[in-house]
Amino acid sequence: MSRLFEALQRSESERSGTPLTQSPPVATQLLQAAEAQGDDFGQCQRLQVSVSAESRLVSLTAKESLGAEKFRFLGVRLRQLRQNRPIKKVLVTSSIAEEGKSLTAANLALTLARRQQQRVLLLEGDLRRPVLAGQFGLSKLVGVSEALQGEFSPTRHIYYLEDPKLWFMPAGHPPENPLELMQSGRLTELMGRLAAGFDWIVIDSPPVLPLADTTVWARLADGVLLVAREGKTERQELKRGVEALGQTNLLGVVLNSCSDTDHSNYYQRYGPHVAGDAHGLGANGNNSNASSLSAEDRMTPPPKIQA
Ligand SMILES: Nc1ncnc2c1ncn2[C@@H]1O[C@H](COP(=O)(O)OP(=O)(O)OP(=O)(O)O)[C@@H](O)[C@H]1O
Ligand SMILES: [Mg+2]
Repeated sequence: MSRLFEALQRSESERSGTPLTQSPPVATQLLQAAEAQGDDFGQCQRLQVSVSAESRLVSLTAKESLGAEKFRFLGVRLRQLRQNRPIKKVLVTSSIAEEGKSLTAANLALTLARRQQQRVLLLEGDLRRPVLAGQFGLSKLVGVSEALQGEFSPTRHIYYLEDPKLWFMPAGHPPENPLELMQSGRLTELMGRLAAGFDWIVIDSPPVLPLADTTVWARLADGVLLVAREGKTERQELKRGVEALGQTNLLGVVLNSCSDTDHSNYYQRYGPHVAGDAHGLGANGNNSNASSLSAEDRMTPPPKIQA
């Protein structure tokens, strides 16, 4: 029995409570899909990360911090959502540039990877401005771009980061034609192979508004988290971002860099950090819901990720 099959069985057993002696149908399907492709993600190149405190990867460098705690809440909330609907590929995006998508995606993936026997892939879907290899203290690596331009191979395009126990697929070298590459159909095939081998895939993407890339990712993902940054995101931009994404698979909004620093009762106030489902967030784009950006009772407070 392959290691992949054993891992899938363990994962399925953990999720469903089915004893390991029985063959869970979902695990069998995953096995067939993955082994038909011959993908063994256990063979990926292993790398050691070198992360400074300034990186703001608090889920790795400051696990006891408030920021890390909030990412744990986000992970818990996602696992809760997954009890009611299939969510594996989670897209992290935002309306405009520099709202904290990459940091949120990386911290969320690090948090999810802390669970025993969960195979988590952090996938860098921003082919134009890759930053994640640098965040982990790694040199430039080949990844998504090269996999889409040639033959995908787990051992060439995916890396296993040993200390966080996280699989990482970097964007690779920025291609000349990112959108064309993504729309070639090879991305869909790639995502199918990845989905067969991982429990979670967290996708860091470009912003929604200026580019069409993110709508391609959104179609491939099971759910979308929209990051908004306090002091930067205008209400209208958030609303336009929600509208551009459509409401079909919007899981919620993550408010980055919240200035509310009253920690005294944060367990009460900072409950789950995914800000509700699409309806609670004004995903239908109407004004009253969109205006909930500052209403704490509707916008579940967010991870604070400043270190
Ligand atoms: N909560 C925060 N506190 C302080 N600095 C932050 C915070 N969130 C993000 N930053 C900083 O803002 C910059 C942009 O962050 P990040 O790269 O995560 O954003 P992004 O939305 O992915 O940007 P882009 O649109 O360029 O991909 C980085 O320098 C990051 O360190
Ligand atoms: Mg980014």
